[in-house]
Amino acid sequence: MSADRFSTVLGAIAPGISTPAPVVLIDVVRDNIARMQAFADAHGKQLRPHVKTHKSVRLGRLQLDAGAVGLTAGNLSEAEIFAADGCPDIFLAYPIWAVGSKAERLRALTERTTLSVGVESTAAVDALVDAMGDAAARLGVVVEVDCGAGRSGVAPPDAGALAAHAAARGLRPLGIFTYPGHGGTVGAREGAAADQTRALRTAVASFVAEGIPVSVVSAGSTPTAEFCTDPVITEIRPGEYVFNDHDNVRLGDCLPEQIGLFVATTVVSDQGHAHVIVDAGTKALAREGTPDRGFGNVPSFDGVLAKLNEYHGFLALPPGGRRPEVGEPVPIVPNHVCPVVNSFEELIIVDRAGAIVDRWPVDAQGQLN
Ligand SMILES: Cc1ncc(COP(=O)(O)O)c(C=O)c1O
Repeated sequence: MSADRFSTVLGAIAPGISTPAPVVLIDVVRDNIARMQAFADAHGKQLRPHVKTHKSVRLGRLQLDAGAVGLTAGNLSEAEIFAADGCPDIFLAYPIWAVGSKAERLRALTERTTLSVGVESTAAVDALVDAMGDAAARLGVVVEVDCGAGRSGVAPPDAGALAAHAAARGLRPLGIFTYPGHGGTVGAREGAAADQTRALRTAVASFVAEGIPVSVVSAGSTPTAEFCTDPVITEIRPGEYVFNDHDNVRLGDCLPEQIGLFVATTVVSDQGHAHVIVDAGTKALAREGTPDRGFGNVPSFDGVLAKLNEYHGFLALPPGGRRPEVGEPVPIVPNHVCPVVNSFEELIIVDRAGAIVDRWPVDAQGQLN
């Protein structure tokens, strides 16, 4: 999408919206969904999109209708909301600590949908066994391995032993997952994906050594998705691809015209500085960026939001460029779209002609546990 396209759309819809607001270019989003599904199909992988990007049951349904095998959730609330909407198969890709009310909710959720959860410690496996009681066999567990991100996950050679422990306690070990989070910087995508393949192969071997069958080998992120083609991988879990953002363009995993969401803002102050103020600060855009890179991309002014306060965005004006007027609508492309969507209660859905066709709730907005 060219800069002009964002501005043209916003120019047409601005009278009908209250800024700041996230505007979804639904045709771009449909193309993004279809393209990732086609990639997965072409390489014989199942697609299980992560819902943390859109948190919208309508968008989850579009992904399932396009052929996704199920959805990935980041916490129990997200899993509950998508299960309540009828999603038949959910993977909670997180080392959930299932005690107290979470234990009850988890057990109840396994009655509503086919549920699997991430595990990466014997303590968490034991807590899951206690949570599930006599229904332990209803819960699938997928062992998380660390492929280099240094976040959660056991060392790959240890995956089989943890799966064996889960099986001995009555849970159903399904396989392995990993998240190549170290592929999120410029130039790092391919290397992180290679680390991921190596880690998954090692983990599969450790399952085999324990005599435990592996049906799921789950990989990926949006930046590394295109490199998730190794035969060991059965499933990919990208999230951001549904909208894409400025970071995805910077990393090289999407084109500017594949960005399907921008934040509509309005210039609210011009006091003659080298910047004007727009009505989106950290409450809308989160604190995604650095002073060097800026906190949001402003294609129509060839610039960035140089600084954010909670409700104020400082739009740096290029020297000699046009100065927007107070009241002028300005589209902002988020650096990282996921926390931006989570800031809002609804998405404004716009079609190819630039008309508002619907408003969809961000169903799992702010759901943190
Ligand atoms: C466990 C897990 N899987 C999948 C994803 C999706 O990756 P992306 O947001 O880059 O598409 C994430 C992102 O944080 C994740 O943490």
